[in-house]
Amino acid sequence: MVQNVAGTLPELEPEDFYLLSGVEQGMRFSEWVRKEELPEFSGLTEEEVDYRVDRCLDYGLIERKTIQYEGYSLKFEGYDALALHAFVERDTIEGFGSSLGVGKESDVFEVQSYKPLALKYHREGFTNFREVMKERDYTSDREHVSWLYTARKAAEREFEAMEALYPDVEVPRPVDQNRHAIVMEKIDGVELSRTGLEDQQVVPVLALILDEMSAAFAHGRVHADMSEYNVFVNEHGITIFDWPQSVPTDHENADEFLERDVENLVGYFQRKHPQHVPDDVDIPRVAAAVEEGDEGRIRTLIEE
Ligand SMILES: Nc1ncnc2c1ncn2[C@@H]1O[C@H](COP(=O)(O)OP(=O)(O)OP(=O)(O)O)[C@@H](O)[C@H]1O
Ligand SMILES: [Mg+2]
Repeated sequence: MVQNVAGTLPELEPEDFYLLSGVEQGMRFSEWVRKEELPEFSGLTEEEVDYRVDRCLDYGLIERKTIQYEGYSLKFEGYDALALHAFVERDTIEGFGSSLGVGKESDVFEVQSYKPLALKYHREGFTNFREVMKERDYTSDREHVSWLYTARKAAEREFEAMEALYPDVEVPRPVDQNRHAIVMEKIDGVELSRTGLEDQQVVPVLALILDEMSAAFAHGRVHADMSEYNVFVNEHGITIFDWPQSVPTDHENADEFLERDVENLVGYFQRKHPQHVPDDVDIPRVAAAVEEGDEGRIRTLIEE
């Protein structure tokens, strides 16, 4: 579990952030940044580096290793602090709220702005990375694959996808992105997996989600991670979120991904509502109708 750094933020001083971004800079070249390199990366004097390193260690923002050489590495907490600081500096957010959800590879919190928003920290690459490194000589920099890079790329991809889709497709409004974090509209509602649909709502809700997938396709995107956990339902309709894995429609496997998305979604409805959704829905034909944007045919195919 990554600790929530929001409470620490007010205690941090500008020089602490210089140190953190110095470590971040150094991590572009190796997982552990040599102590001697920190003055150059951070723009701080050697004495100041000593002092700031101890503070950042105490706050749990960085880690030290002493095998082979003395080196420092950001923890996710340190990376979170840098992103959060950036959002505060540019007035994207003013305050920090409680947890909205913990995904397999993310932490989502409510944040305050002129209205409540949601902040999602991406955690991709971290667990795997640590496991891989444990098996290898972890002091070797030769196979340096940074989790910072993986997590930041995921945030960039997700933000880019939401910008391409909003407002024509029902996705949270994208607000800002920094490093591995994105800020977006906070959606009120309940995950589809936890929504108790009434009989007459089942087919219309399924059709609504397929129509949004169709609109996303028309805007050049396939979600590629569609499930009952990535759709929110409320009285106004549905919202599809969690877009970091989405692919452009000209991707060589886009059709396959779309068909798998349709299969996951329809499969969920078939299991949960067997009395309303037939078990022999022709998935490839539904996927084709989604691609063509043929809402009438989507509806006919899931009702047959
Ligand atoms: N904009 C939002 N508004 C409100 N809640 C949100 C928002 N975005 C995400 N959440 C909550 O946080 C949870 C995790 O978000 P999301 O699905 O985007 O992350 P994830 O880690 O990729 O999930 P997964 O486990 O499916 O890979 C969601 O299930 C949802 O409950
Ligand atoms: Mg999810």
